[in-house]
Amino acid sequence: MNIPSNRSTAPNGRPLEIQPKWRQDFPIDVADDELGARREFTKFAVLVSFAFVVGQCWIALKSWLRRRKPTPGSQRIAAIDDVAVGAAMLFHYPTENDPCLLLRAATGTFFAYSNQCTHLMCAVRPEMDQSRLHCPCHAGYFDLATGRPIAGPPRRPLPRIVLEVRAGSLYAVGVERRTI
Ligand code: FES
Repeated sequence: MNIPSNRSTAPNGRPLEIQPKWRQDFPIDVADDELGARREFTKFAVLVSFAFVVGQCWIALKSWLRRRKPTPGSQRIAAIDDVAVGAAMLFHYPTENDPCLLLRAATGTFFAYSNQCTHLMCAVRPEMDQSRLHCPCHAGYFDLATGRPIAGPPRRPLPRIVLEVRAGSLYAVGVERRTI
């Protein structure tokens, strides 16, 4: 194999013609090799940084769009007396595609959450006697009083439905999406 004429001196300083065969087969000297490696690394670093910046912009845009969503209107869920202490009731809010749970804890306090697990959207089930909500898909658990994850794969709390009492009835008046 001919060594390109523009090749600089080999690392051992001897003429290129008497270099061992392996060096003639791979006639890249150390300086060129390092330059190539540095160039590749720089390209890789620039691409990774670019992808990171695009990802951050995407997250910022999504959260800005979410904040701009108009607040849903109010919707009557049930009369207070229709929900027994320790009972749960399914309703939909803010649209027919958003299942939610209204819960009346043993203390008589009402809570309402989205009925979709924040892991992979399975329906959660109330376990009122243990003050928690259970997701049977991957054994996720949420605290009944806060909707925050307490065990299993979910990392984000259940969206909380804001409740209001008017003339003996419970109304859903907003959705509070939380990240922690
Ligand atoms: S979907 Fe609920 S724990 Fe996985």
